Amino acid sequence: MNSSTNHPLGWALIGCGGIGNHHSQWAVSTPDVGVRAFCDIDADAASRYYEQFEGDYYTTDPMRIFSDPDVDIVAIATPHSTHADLAVAALHAGKHVYLEKPMAMNTADCLRIYKAMQAAGTKLMINFSIRFSGATRAIKSRLQPPKVSHAQCMVRRDDLTRWQWDAEIGGGPLYDVGVHLVDLLCWMHDAPPVEVFATGGQVTHGGELADPYLNAQHGCVEGNTSRKRRAFNIVDTAAATIRFANDSVATMLMSDAGYNTVLSKWFFQFFDGEQSAVLYEHFRKVTFTAPDPVTGELTSETLTPPPIERLPLLIDAIRNDTDPYVPVYPGILATLLLEKITESIHSGRPQEIELPIEYRSQL
Ligand SMILES: NC(=O)c1ccc[n+]([C@@H]2O[C@H](COP(=O)([O-])OP(=O)(O)OC[C@H]3O[C@@H](n4cnc5c(N)ncnc54)[C@H](O)[C@@H]3O)[C@@H](O)[C@H]2O)c1
Repeated sequence: MNSSTNHPLGWALIGCGGIGNHHSQWAVSTPDVGVRAFCDIDADAASRYYEQFEGDYYTTDPMRIFSDPDVDIVAIATPHSTHADLAVAALHAGKHVYLEKPMAMNTADCLRIYKAMQAAGTKLMINFSIRFSGATRAIKSRLQPPKVSHAQCMVRRDDLTRWQWDAEIGGGPLYDVGVHLVDLLCWMHDAPPVEVFATGGQVTHGGELADPYLNAQHGCVEGNTSRKRRAFNIVDTAAATIRFANDSVATMLMSDAGYNTVLSKWFFQFFDGEQSAVLYEHFRKVTFTAPDPVTGELTSETLTPPPIERLPLLIDAIRNDTDPYVPVYPGILATLLLEKITESIHSGRPQEIELPIEYRSQL
């Protein structure tokens, strides 16, 4: 491990897929990083990345990465259900971790990662992409924590064969994209969420994933889709209201019911009681509206500030022994909130959100 010296930090990637390509590009363009290795259960994928980004080796075995003394940072960009075990193993081996979202698929696994990180004394950053946007950061610095917000992610009807849709492996769009919405709301509101009430479930794919056994029990015969029981094992649509500890409130809308080109996939509005901000065009653009200090007339300004570079923020935390830009606590909170949204959808009742007391002060 080279953390306390001025040597470049050895970097390895686990998960040579879509976002793994971005992680690799960040690694090769960060001066303080030496690209060491690529790992994927698919040997062809690992070998392609090894050739493209010129590491020292590729492997299908994560243990080879964890036991390599020349690896300091492990980027984990694999399907959601694998995050917890891979992150814990990396931390046990004394590595720093750049972990993809969601941190894990349940709060217990998030806390397992958190404890492993504390025991290792290493750093872990979560890749909540929207936090690195220049437009988002401009909102955070210009507005007071909002009193009221709206967060939205709308995409076209999704392909059910993708792993993201598997209840066990991906958790569906709530865990894939909804996690960004809840994280950004918690960050902007600057207070932990205390209550959520949500409705939705399998709205756009009603019945498509239904368990045949349950369908039989509920009188469904083949061809009679109207009587199919909705399985609700995946949330494709969620409409939620969230109240925060500072009594501010937010709405959240997430679905694969369709895309619109006006607002784009991601759309956010924040109102702090005086100013407002609208974040749109894939969180690249922000329009602020505020009263003129002299005339009181409302004026608007639109900005497209560039995003900040991600990996150097983890390097800074390692070199200076500080919390990284996106630390573990927001990751725990986001997964907890997703669990509560799901519980509210299933029960039809509002859910209180309470993190175990020992973690509360850190959020
Ligand atoms: N932060 C963002 O904006 C953003 C964007 C896209 C995806 N992601 C996240 O990145 C992660 C990966 O998503 P993706 O779209 O790149 O998926 P992907 O399917 O394109 O790539 C995943 C890769 O992981 C490999 N893999 C699966 N299990 C593995 C294991 N146990 N060990 C090693 N390799 C394994 C697969 O073979 C595949 O090559 C997910 O957590 C996803 O939510 C984040």
